[in-house]
Amino acid sequence: MNSSENILDSFELIKSIDKSGMLSVVEKFPTQCKEAAKIGDSIKISWDCSSLRSVIVLGMGGSGIGGDILKTVLADELNLPVFVNKTYQLPAFVNNESLVFAVSYSGNTEETLSGFDEARARKARIVAVTSGGELKEKAEKLNYPIVKIPAGFQPRAVLGYLFFPVIIALAKIGLIKDKSDDIHQTIELLDELSKNYSSSNPLDKNKAKQLAVDLFNQIPVIYGSDGLTDVSALRWKCQFNENSKIPAFNHIFPELNHNEIVGWERLKELNEKFSLIFLRDESDHSRLIKRMDVTKELLADSVGNIYEVWTKGKSKLTKIFSSIYLGDFISVYLALLYKVDPTPVERITLLKNRLSET
Ligand code: F6R
Repeated sequence: MNSSENILDSFELIKSIDKSGMLSVVEKFPTQCKEAAKIGDSIKISWDCSSLRSVIVLGMGGSGIGGDILKTVLADELNLPVFVNKTYQLPAFVNNESLVFAVSYSGNTEETLSGFDEARARKARIVAVTSGGELKEKAEKLNYPIVKIPAGFQPRAVLGYLFFPVIIALAKIGLIKDKSDDIHQTIELLDELSKNYSSSNPLDKNKAKQLAVDLFNQIPVIYGSDGLTDVSALRWKCQFNENSKIPAFNHIFPELNHNEIVGWERLKELNEKFSLIFLRDESDHSRLIKRMDVTKELLADSVGNIYEVWTKGKSKLTKIFSSIYLGDFISVYLALLYKVDPTPVERITLLKNRLSET
């Protein structure tokens, strides 16, 4: 084991780098999901939803990804379209027959606040999901339901709080069937995975630590399948960006077979710095499985390395969270290998500060 790998099995070294304790927050994620489910269960919304024609989630970055998961999980079940809005304006179809979840952990994200104002002007039904800020103030003033979640974390670290209350709320108002079993199974699996991936499990037995070591000094490119692990691939990319402070990219099967696969043909030396990670699932469409196998063969000599990660669990929800959870751990371990504190996102803070000056 070389010295950098040593870091991952040393509590002292981990503590000295991970000053704000991101690893411990990730390790406690199953508990967060349990608490989030309780928050969801306590929501009191009794709307007649028979007139609803669309569900919109407003949210950026760590607060928006929950919307992406919701859209993916409900695609085969909900008869209404789910639209995730990640900018200032809303699409024309948002109206008084829309249900809008305005999700901002800080409550101060300007794109989300702008979407909230537009949704209000169009008389949509709005639920705010936040720990405070302007969103909470506005929602309180206007008497909209608020899902209040605990403050004091990084938004990307509270995916459980930001996601589970929303899916539970949709079940409560009768738009989707009860999700308790899937949620329960997801949390059980996360509990098990937490033990496997946590810092107390040494490198030689810990897949998350091993993949972090493999990806050290590489640029990760994560490929997921359309309609399932595409959302996990997006989460992995963002977590590599924000926790590990490295560039990372994601794309989707089968679309990437029609363009990106050609992009690895030239720039041989540069391509050696990229590692591909295929997020795979046994129930992917048979042609997708074939495509991934063939793509792996075709690209084997074109990039640094190719890794495959298979989802676990039965439901879409469990599968997505199982792959997201592995990526969360890897991104933190990779930060530790680079000796950077995973928590601060200085550039995001600087940018938000600059924008608030004008
Ligand atoms: C920071 C993070 C960011 C924020 C985003 C929106 O941990 O993940 O992507 O989530 O800048 O801010 P909030 O979540 O406060 O609306």
